[in-house]
Amino acid sequence: MNPKQLAGEKAVEFVKEGMTVGLGTGSTAYFSVKKIGELVQNGLRIKAVCTSQATHDLAVSLGIPIIKMRDAGHIDLTIDGADEVDPEGHGIKGRWGALLFEKIVAVNSEKNIWVVDESKIVKKLGKFPLPVEVIPFGHRQVLDHFVRLGFNPVLRIDEDKEFQTDSGNYIIHLHLGVIEDPLQLDRTIKQIPGVVEHGLFPGIVNKVIVANDNNIRILEFR
Ligand code: 5RP
Repeated sequence: MNPKQLAGEKAVEFVKEGMTVGLGTGSTAYFSVKKIGELVQNGLRIKAVCTSQATHDLAVSLGIPIIKMRDAGHIDLTIDGADEVDPEGHGIKGRWGALLFEKIVAVNSEKNIWVVDESKIVKKLGKFPLPVEVIPFGHRQVLDHFVRLGFNPVLRIDEDKEFQTDSGNYIIHLHLGVIEDPLQLDRTIKQIPGVVEHGLFPGIVNKVIVANDNNIRILEFR
């Protein structure tokens, strides 16, 4: 089976009756959402909050009961993908531009599970470009700030125009190579006015489900 499907479906074993579940975004979380949809059609009762419009549309098409974030008092478990995961369980997320909602849902969840294929497991974060969500006003200045810091920023352009997130913001990718200190980098980026959020997720995940073609392993953190 496709490793993304293996990991995505395995995570759904942790979803229990009555839970409020955060639904992640991307090609691996897709399989979790599909599986949850199947269980809901077979009688499982849960509520879900979505981390993107794309996931919302998928969940609605599968008949999963969706609630708004403001009505989700307690989120029991969120299942999401990741772009890189290091041995401490720090991660980079956001390839699909959903990092802001993903982070808000993740930090407000009791437990977080990431579903990845083996290629996402790295010794050090940073080879994958780190997405930073910035407001359009002043984004040039934020980009210049990143240049001065030596972060090799590139504004994300899709089909000849600035990519816009579900919140109407832009994404700047930082080509860092290696991130030696994710916690320090988190602080450095956050203090720049105009930055809304970034795709570094330090110390958030509890379990990472890693799959290759024929085998699944589960990494436990915190
Ligand atoms: C979207 C994300 C994704 O979860 C992450 O990019 C992994 O995606 P995929 O499972 O398609 O490789 O953070 O913003």
